[in-house]
Amino acid sequence: MGELPSSQPQRQFIQVCQYRSCQRFQSDAVLTALKQHAGPELMVAASSCLGQCGSGPTVRVAPDNVWYCRVQPKDIDEILEQHICQGKPVKRLLHPRFHPDYNRLLARLKAQDI
Ligand code: FES
Repeated sequence: MGELPSSQPQRQFIQVCQYRSCQRFQSDAVLTALKQHAGPELMVAASSCLGQCGSGPTVRVAPDNVWYCRVQPKDIDEILEQHICQGKPVKRLLHPRFHPDYNRLLARLKAQDI
């Protein structure tokens, strides 16, 4: 992944669940991969159970309040480039419980930028 743009309007915070169910599916490797890209504009931290144990590893991006499910280390570059750098969440990884409608999510995020 390239450098995060300095024009990024707000600091992003990514939580990666490190509790039992998510750990069984490589959430530790997801956290390690994300932490390699942490910096002043991107905070990355482990979390306890985020309540989505059946669809882990669970990743949450704030302040966008975007939830990803079944995230694997190979998905990290796509999340960073498409979501964190370009502001467009990765549709195929979105948790359907929180984001049943992709266009509605995009509209909400766009409204947040104003
Ligand atoms: S164990 Fe990860 S969401 Fe519950």
